[in-house]
Amino acid sequence: MTVAYGRIEALHGISLTVEEGELVTLIGANGAGKTTTMRAISGVHPLARGSIIFDGQDVTRMKPHLRVHAGIIQAPEGRGVFAGMTVMENLEMGCFARTFKTKAEHDETVERVFTFFPRLAERRTQVGGTMSGGEQQMLAIGRALMARPRLLLLDEPSMGLAPMIIQQIFRIISEINKQGTTVLLVEQNAQQALSRSDRAYVLETGTVVRTGPGKTLLADPAIKDAYLGVA
Ligand SMILES: Nc1ncnc2c1ncn2[C@@H]1O[C@H](COP(=O)(O)OP(=O)(O)OP(=O)(O)O)[C@@H](O)[C@H]1O
Ligand SMILES: [Mg+2]
Repeated sequence: MTVAYGRIEALHGISLTVEEGELVTLIGANGAGKTTTMRAISGVHPLARGSIIFDGQDVTRMKPHLRVHAGIIQAPEGRGVFAGMTVMENLEMGCFARTFKTKAEHDETVERVFTFFPRLAERRTQVGGTMSGGEQQMLAIGRALMARPRLLLLDEPSMGLAPMIIQQIFRIISEINKQGTTVLLVEQNAQQALSRSDRAYVLETGTVVRTGPGKTLLADPAIKDAYLGVA
């Protein structure tokens, strides 16, 4: 994928693969192009060159809402919770572009979200904008789950959260993945993300510079030096 903003190229022809059932992480410094990668996959920003294949189908020119319909669901950077809507209304927005066939299916999915995030069940009538940062992150992931992702795109879910909440969010992401949802995760918290990933990619100024199993990258001195804050 090559992606540009006007005349400035943000992704210089990167190639990445996420196999069904995998948890794959993308790490990289601020401005490396992580969010751009996510936005290209979900279709909210077009490719300048290249292609995106999802489940054997070329989705390069497919509109974003149709990608949602196909199961490509993004929880955006900064959470994007609808501040004036309640928790329940936010969750309902998650299935807006991918409606349920039956009420039972809807109710089961809400229950599944509440099982992952009991806090959301307790706070279902609270207005989204008044939730704490950690709770809003839970809501953003819960809302994405309402669309029954086949590929869940998570952009920096740990951003701005306390260490305890980060641990909890990562555990839940692992559990979502173990229960069968393919996950592409963007993270600055490389330690947590790499230790939980099947594979990872390192992005530097719009280019993939390393790829391998999460644990292999975690043990790599150059990665430690650049992304784990240890020499
Ligand atoms: N709408 C835009 N218009 C112009 N340039 C943009 C736009 N969005 C992103 N960029 C540029 O593209 C590059 C990649 O940005 P991107 O948001 O993908 O980085 P990132 O890896 O997600 O960074 P961060 O860790 O800070 O979220 C940056 O140089 C950024 O300034
Ligand atoms: Mg970003």
